[in-house]
Amino acid sequence: MTRRLSLLTPSGRLTLGNLLGALRPMRDGQDTADCFYGISDLHALTTPRSPETLRAAIAEQSALLLAVGLDRSTLFRQSRVPAHTELSYLLECVATTGELGRMIQFKEKSRRHETVRCSLFTYPVLMAADILLYQPEQVPVGDDQRQHIELTRDVALRFNTTYGEVFTLPEITVPPAGARVMDLAEPTRKMSKSGPEAGSIALLDPPDVVRRKIARAVTDSDPGPDPVRADRDAKPGVTNLLEILTACGGSADDVTTYGALKSAVTDAVVAELAPIQARYADLAADPAYVQEVFERGAARCREVTAPVLAAARAAVGL
Ligand code: ADP
Ligand code: NA
Repeated sequence: MTRRLSLLTPSGRLTLGNLLGALRPMRDGQDTADCFYGISDLHALTTPRSPETLRAAIAEQSALLLAVGLDRSTLFRQSRVPAHTELSYLLECVATTGELGRMIQFKEKSRRHETVRCSLFTYPVLMAADILLYQPEQVPVGDDQRQHIELTRDVALRFNTTYGEVFTLPEITVPPAGARVMDLAEPTRKMSKSGPEAGSIALLDPPDVVRRKIARAVTDSDPGPDPVRADRDAKPGVTNLLEILTACGGSADDVTTYGALKSAVTDAVVAELAPIQARYADLAADPAYVQEVFERGAARCREVTAPVLAAARAAVGL
């Protein structure tokens, strides 16, 4: 059976964008692959956040992964599988500062911070370790991660050439044209768990919050008697709302005004989130169960990754 790997960083509250673009496809992936889904808690340390904030984000994200139905996967926390950091170090010994300095995401993120943690610079190497340890045939990633997967392939190939064949080079697969949900307040940027809250719907937002955020969503910059239609360039906000509506199982057939559109989107989103929120409430009441699931997952990960790490250690002469 093919292996599928996906990691989510607990850098904020999971959003509707994460659900439609990542979690729903991850759930469907369980039927056709042996899925390893991880919480990349180490990646969350590349930028400053308090221990309390991190702990809360990890707890919420763990229960949410179960609540959206990823219970037929191996769920784990990256920090509970030490092979990730150990292999990352071995890969740092073949990666170069030149190639890491060329990573667009590093350049962009480091520009926004006054001091830059070393881990932000080496993050793509840890990501390479995350992937290579599981030898997945395919790594479905969005455009923003393409350069990092290419780096993973470069580093793996260099390791293999220098020390002997240890790693399978992952193929980059473009995920099926999944919904790309845009920020409600600023519809030319994507909705993000680390972005501003006003334009982002968290999976745990109660119905009245969802209603308020959608009511305030940007539709047109120049209002006027303009029909409700999709036009990504001229009407990014309306297009986004229409796409959210369809992705959440609603229909715009009877929608003729922006008010009706917003009300239909609200109903569809609230209905989409309701079962997730109900399961989340049960799981949040039983943190020991959630922890047990993730610990069982990590134990399987330690087993699966041990031979790969051992081969890498032996290859370099350790
Ligand atoms: P975020 O920007 O919310 O922190 P990440 O960049 O960590 O999200 O990506 C986590 C996963 O969620 C990825 O698979 C990514 O493609 C998906 N994703 C993130 N934001 C969106 C969005 N706005 N629309 C669709 N998919 C998204
Ligand atoms: Na992000």
